Amino acid sequence: MRRILAAAAQAPSGHNTQPWRFAVEGLRITILPDLSRRLPAVDPDDHALFISLGCALENLVVAARDEGYDAEVDDAGLDGEAPALVVQLRPMQAVDSRGNGLRAAIPERQSTRRTYDGRAIPSADLRRLESASRQDGVGFHLFTDAGSIEPLVELVEEGNRRQFGDPAFVEELVSWIRFNPREVRDRQDGLTHAVMGLPSIPRWLGRVVMTRFVTPGSQARSAARAIRSSAALMLFTTDRAGPRGWVHLGRSFERVALTATTLDIRQAHMNMPCEVSELREELRRHLQLGAAHPLLLLRIGYGRPMPRSPRRPLAEVLLEGPP
Ligand SMILES: Cc1cc2nc3c(=O)[nH]c(=O)nc-3n(C[C@H](O)[C@H](O)[C@H](O)COP(=O)(O)O)c2cc1C
Repeated sequence: MRRILAAAAQAPSGHNTQPWRFAVEGLRITILPDLSRRLPAVDPDDHALFISLGCALENLVVAARDEGYDAEVDDAGLDGEAPALVVQLRPMQAVDSRGNGLRAAIPERQSTRRTYDGRAIPSADLRRLESASRQDGVGFHLFTDAGSIEPLVELVEEGNRRQFGDPAFVEELVSWIRFNPREVRDRQDGLTHAVMGLPSIPRWLGRVVMTRFVTPGSQARSAARAIRSSAALMLFTTDRAGPRGWVHLGRSFERVALTATTLDIRQAHMNMPCEVSELREELRRHLQLGAAHPLLLLRIGYGRPMPRSPRRPLAEVLLEGPP
């Protein structure tokens, strides 16, 4: 059970908040949102929080299968006052190795924020990502040519300008950056200086850098450069706003991220146009998405790995007794 829960806790989450808690009763696991880890500035409706729970759920299901359990997921509780996901594990009758390749990718997967090497991804591998994405109510779109990527670069740049021009966004981001090894050790969460490619510095200096030297313009330019070094962009949409649709999207995204990892394909979020509500509308109109909500945009490509991101000890995310 510990191995299964540890795999769930290795999931990605917005700003590495790790906004989950797990309650275990026998073979029944309840996944609960930890609302003390919300991101009100960048994620006021909590969609990224529930996408992150969906990622944790997908890891849990993949790891359970690898340990010889079928996982039956009950997500009906997500629509209630106190949203929760329940997973019932049952020992498998026959051994099933379907998830095994993905199991090994769980500790390997990472968000890799460096520039990539510009190489294209073979179409057979793009098709594997596409088929990994399949999930009820979730849309998956790939953009591989400059004609379709460039209009999205403009929206990413505009999103960056608006977010870094908003003091509440910058303040929240600074509060989740761990600027030196001591902060990393004490908290085991957030965005470390190493994963962001920054040197180790004291917090006061980090704040000065983030508020004076990281400007809306400089961020927009570096995001555009990063996208142009990548092979493709991928967008995830959901037909249903609300925790259930968001969790489904998270499962789809995590399966794609794990599949990409098995193919040595790196990924990094470029969510800015999905996070700023007017730009999300513009993105929806531009891509003629109808009623679908575009919620995650990532670039993919090839490059060396970055340092790993920390996770809190399991004891901190386990609830004693029934939920
Ligand atoms: C829903 C969601 C939204 C995210 N948004 C961003 C983002 O806007 N920018 C970014 O650089 N990373 C983003 N990330 C990546 C997280 O910061 C990353 O998963 C976390 O720091 C843990 O690192 P890891 O993915 O390398 O394990 C997002 C992840 C999730 C699940």
